[in-house]
Amino acid sequence: MTTVDIGQLSDFESGVPHQIRVENRVLVLVRIEDDVYVLDDRCSHEDFSLAEGEVDCDTAEIECARHGAMFRLKDGEPVSLPATRPVAHYDVRNFDGRLEVVIP
Ligand code: FES
Repeated sequence: MTTVDIGQLSDFESGVPHQIRVENRVLVLVRIEDDVYVLDDRCSHEDFSLAEGEVDCDTAEIECARHGAMFRLKDGEPVSLPATRPVAHYDVRNFDGRLEVVIP
């Protein structure tokens, strides 16, 4: 397991997906106010970047822009078709606004 510094909470606009690269992985980071979520930036339906999609801040879900599948940000589980498999998610630690992502 490795923890990698990914910057300040204030570096990331709330409600907007951000693509980040960590240890040769391409990830999508979503901040909703003080909560931060990180998933693999790859829809489990087809190979498409979730960072191209839209965030629903009320339900804490992200929509794949390609065919509209929704994924829960807290655990990567799909909540609507056509996706049926989860997207990998990563724990994020927040040290007074400094963020670290945990890579297993
Ligand atoms: S590629 Fe994401 S829903 Fe089809």
